[in-house]
Amino acid sequence: MSGIATNRVGVRELRIGLLGCGMVGQAVVRALEASSGRLAEAGVGGKCVVALVRDPDRPRATSGVALTSDLETWHQHGVDVVVEALGGVEPARTLIARVLSSGIPVVTANKSLVAAHGLELQRLAAQRGTALYFEASVLAGVPCVNTLARRPLASGRGHWAGIVNGTSHFVSSQMAHGRGFEDALTEAVARGYAEPASDADISGRDAAEKLTILLHLAGHGDVTVDDFPRRGIGDLEPWHFALAGRLAGVLKPVVMADTAAGGGAWVGPAFVGQSHPFAQITGVTNILSVGRGEATVTFSGPGAGPDVTALTVLDDVVEAASGRAPCSLPSPEASVPVARHLRTPKAGAWFLAIDRVTSSAGELAEFLSGNHLPALALACEDQRFGVLTAPARHSTLRAAVEAIAASGVRATWWPVLEVPRG
Ligand SMILES: NC(=O)c1ccc[n+]([C@@H]2O[C@H](COP(=O)([O-])OP(=O)(O)OC[C@H]3O[C@@H](n4cnc5c(N)ncnc54)[C@H](OP(=O)(O)O)[C@@H]3O)[C@@H](O)[C@H]2O)c1
Repeated sequence: MSGIATNRVGVRELRIGLLGCGMVGQAVVRALEASSGRLAEAGVGGKCVVALVRDPDRPRATSGVALTSDLETWHQHGVDVVVEALGGVEPARTLIARVLSSGIPVVTANKSLVAAHGLELQRLAAQRGTALYFEASVLAGVPCVNTLARRPLASGRGHWAGIVNGTSHFVSSQMAHGRGFEDALTEAVARGYAEPASDADISGRDAAEKLTILLHLAGHGDVTVDDFPRRGIGDLEPWHFALAGRLAGVLKPVVMADTAAGGGAWVGPAFVGQSHPFAQITGVTNILSVGRGEATVTFSGPGAGPDVTALTVLDDVVEAASGRAPCSLPSPEASVPVARHLRTPKAGAWFLAIDRVTSSAGELAEFLSGNHLPALALACEDQRFGVLTAPARHSTLRAAVEAIAASGVRATWWPVLEVPRG
């Protein structure tokens, strides 16, 4: 970073190169202009000089930024810092590797890339005397990654729970008020919360990528996105929410992982009782808690959108310009393996939604007891039952649900989010 020009008042004038200039890239250009005063106070100024895009002729609000689809032209602009806002794994991985290899720091908000290749790219950066910054890849609107990464005792508390995807949280919050899935998703797209291609949000993949990065930061470099049991929100129906409500709870898209006490993980909807702190969080808001009981640390704030993401990206640009080290992902030698403990949901209470039952509540409770899954509470509406069960292992739950299915009745299950206790 020694070649960066410094102006008369000691502000380092950065030449920033963008890889990608869509929602986030354009928000970075806007925020750089709008926040120039604050950035100057931090000793950093500069402008986005060039952006690599697929279609340079597409209209976008980026006056003064050279747009090109030609990589060699992009490289010729000579930049001090690169902001990657392409999305996806390739070509982002190859392009970032080339930039890092030439000793230039990279800032990214790309969780797919960091979850799959963050460790290898950070190693490459260290070898070349530069760095990869990725605070905006997880809960971009709630900058907690650096805090956790620099606090090994906080991030080592082992019990992770969060609502980390704003789109699926908005959709499920709407469904809790009686709206259908498609209707709620259409509104999320119209409000700009969800992209038209929102498969990664709906399937839970986006949330699983964020959980992977958090566990890497906690020192568990062996974890991959596919290690977690995962279910999307696409099969939720309004009656599931109605029955959850009758049992004093709501269904919310969560991530959970326990690396300390017996293992277990889940990415997908969970029953959240009204007494749980997460029950009060609605809309696109994100929340993340680490630890248990009185030792729980909680972060909460706006779900990511391009504008909040751009601010976190620019904070990372300041970090890069200041030469501060990014949070580091563990080397394979230092990694503490936990992946094999995360491949099944943790034992606990379960919420069952059972459709078109002809038996009575008493008969259903007796059936569940006979299958080692006692019901603690039941609610019934239009021949549909919601059941909160006693704590049981996942294998016991599966066996009971298979027994229900064998009797010709459709049953769906979700875990109950454990209430943190002191
Ligand atoms: N959107 C958000 O609110 C948000 C929040 C947090 C994190 N993120 C992350 O930020 C990243 C960018 O998201 P986004 O919403 O800005 O995506 P986007 O709107 O789809 O923008 C992607 C940009 O990359 C360019 N691009 C894609 N593939 C390319 C290729 N092969 N060669 C050259 N250019 C290519 C596109 O060019 P064209 O414009 O010419 O098509 C576009 O400018 C993603 O990793 C996303 O997960 C997004």
